[in-house]
Amino acid sequence: MGILIAPSMLSADFGKLASEVEMVNNSEADWFHLDIMDGLFVPNISYGFPVVKAIAKSARKPLDAHLMIQDPDRYIDEFAKAGVNYLSVHWEACTHLHRTLEHIRSAGMKPGIALNPHTPVNILYDILPEAHFVLIMSVNPGFGGQKFIESSLGKIRKLKEIASKIAPHCLIEVDGGVNMQNAPLLAEAGADILVAGNTIFSGPSPADAIRELKSLGK
Ligand code: DX5
Ligand code: ZN
Repeated sequence: MGILIAPSMLSADFGKLASEVEMVNNSEADWFHLDIMDGLFVPNISYGFPVVKAIAKSARKPLDAHLMIQDPDRYIDEFAKAGVNYLSVHWEACTHLHRTLEHIRSAGMKPGIALNPHTPVNILYDILPEAHFVLIMSVNPGFGGQKFIESSLGKIRKLKEIASKIAPHCLIEVDGGVNMQNAPLLAEAGADILVAGNTIFSGPSPADAIRELKSLGK
């Protein structure tokens, strides 16, 4: 399997959301990445259910929602109803993470654990078998267009090594500052899914950028 590309819709033009969704539908992208921020867990507010539902209505690829919110359990069922397929919650935001992952799975979605840049991957040892994927934040969450934190590469390698022993099914998603330079290094380190916002949407041809990222991950 080649690398999966998940465009972060946070960087899309919300004034023409329908055509941005159509562009992703017609591109080589694999998932839609939806960043949900509450202004508490992260110092920014993004968008909520009306926008998620609008995207779900015309999306023809899986929806991957990344919850950067406190106490995410409150909204799990509503994300399932909105049509989300992959749902990640932050390790730092969940007191009862095992229960939260179970809840996500019983709601019919694939559960993911997101880790902030300062959170070491070895804390995942006992919970990793319960996760379908881990999202490694390679910037501090809250904003698109930030600079990639280089130490994330080492975290991915380490996580790959742990996962290969105790949870080989577990996919590794990388989110933040992904670009044409670091994409091949991320793939080589063990990333399975690359999220990209600025690299895709800030240039003249998002579809070409998606194609290029996809080929760099081969
Ligand atoms: C940041 C979000 C990311 C972000 C990625 O908090 O989780 O998904 O939108 O955007 P870029 O690729 O521009 O860093
Ligand atoms: Zn994200």
